[in-house]
Amino acid sequence: MKKVNTNNFKKTLGKFSTGITVVCVKNNNSIYGKTVNSFNSLSLDPPMVLFSLGNYSSSIKKFSKTKFLSINILSSKQKKLSDNFALTEPNLEDIKFIEGKNKTVIIPNCIANLECELIEKIKRGDHIIFICKILKLQSNEKLKPLVYFNSKYF
Ligand SMILES: Cc1cc2nc3c(=O)[nH]c(=O)nc-3n(C[C@H](O)[C@H](O)[C@H](O)COP(=O)(O)O)c2cc1C
Repeated sequence: MKKVNTNNFKKTLGKFSTGITVVCVKNNNSIYGKTVNSFNSLSLDPPMVLFSLGNYSSSIKKFSKTKFLSINILSSKQKKLSDNFALTEPNLEDIKFIEGKNKTVIIPNCIANLECELIEKIKRGDHIIFICKILKLQSNEKLKPLVYFNSKYF
């Protein structure tokens, strides 16, 4: 076993394959979205999920202040969306967001979408863990997931 440093931490954790989500909030009529693969299920009853965001993120305040948000699980056809929402200023022009309840905005054609209420934020290390209760959800049985492994899409 090796000593832990940032490089071997990133490389080793990259061996854990994940799906990819885009987490969206609408704040004062502006939409903010972030590509996130730290998403996971947390609880069945009540239904809760979690994800974490770096506290250095340019839009951390927008996410921290929100009460409601959407988590959009990307399909294999949505690599461009993943790259787009990893940018500090993503291009929102071509995305036909669907209005959800509680001012959430949903990305169309995803493999699944969750409308959530932000229940709790926990600061740990250089990230904030967002714990969210699921209010509404939908999934598409015909699509395949976008998978991330070793810093590559599959
Ligand atoms: C596949 C993928 C997954 C990512 N997952 C996360 C994540 O779980 N948490 C996070 O804080 N950033 C994650 N990022 C990075 C953010 O999307 C974004 O690039 C980063 O926050 C820097 O941009 P910003 O300062 O404008 O927020 C991910 C990026 C990619 C491409």
